[in-house]
Amino acid sequence: MNRLSLPPVLFVCLGNICRSPLAEAAYRHALAGAGLAGQADSAGTGDWHVGHPPDPRAIAVAAGSGIDISHYRARQVSAEDFHRFGHIVALDRNNLGDLARIAPAGATARLSLLLDWAPGREGHGVADPYYGDEEGFAVTWQEVGMGARGLLSALTAQGGHS
Ligand code: 4NP
Repeated sequence: MNRLSLPPVLFVCLGNICRSPLAEAAYRHALAGAGLAGQADSAGTGDWHVGHPPDPRAIAVAAGSGIDISHYRARQVSAEDFHRFGHIVALDRNNLGDLARIAPAGATARLSLLLDWAPGREGHGVADPYYGDEEGFAVTWQEVGMGARGLLSALTAQGGHS
């Protein structure tokens, strides 16, 4: 039996249809691969795509790794998220700045940049692939995988207490 209690993690990008759903999927995959249970979700700072499934190119790149994200639905980050989640992980610096700006007083979630959890990639944002091509989504998938695995390693090394 695994007694590790991991904090719930929310991944946040701009639209919640490309990068943060892929980050959520990569983190869930890392959890499953490690035989761990943990909660994860994703959201966007913007509201343009609320209720929409992920971008077809994001669905396709995850499907290439045998992961189905077609049932995910976009939502906008809310004030409540800053209390519900132990970690809110931004995909790029703009997202991180927006989150810091809208964080309610007394917020308990720890804010971070996804690639700050990836050794050697600290300080980097995950570029928005929305206006690019499929190749961009392959890069996104690689990057969110590095961040998600690094985050899970850090959380498990801390015994799940941070
Ligand atoms: P995401 O990509 O933030 O990775 O989900 C975007 C998707 C849509 C838009 C912007 C970014 N948009 O402006 O509609």
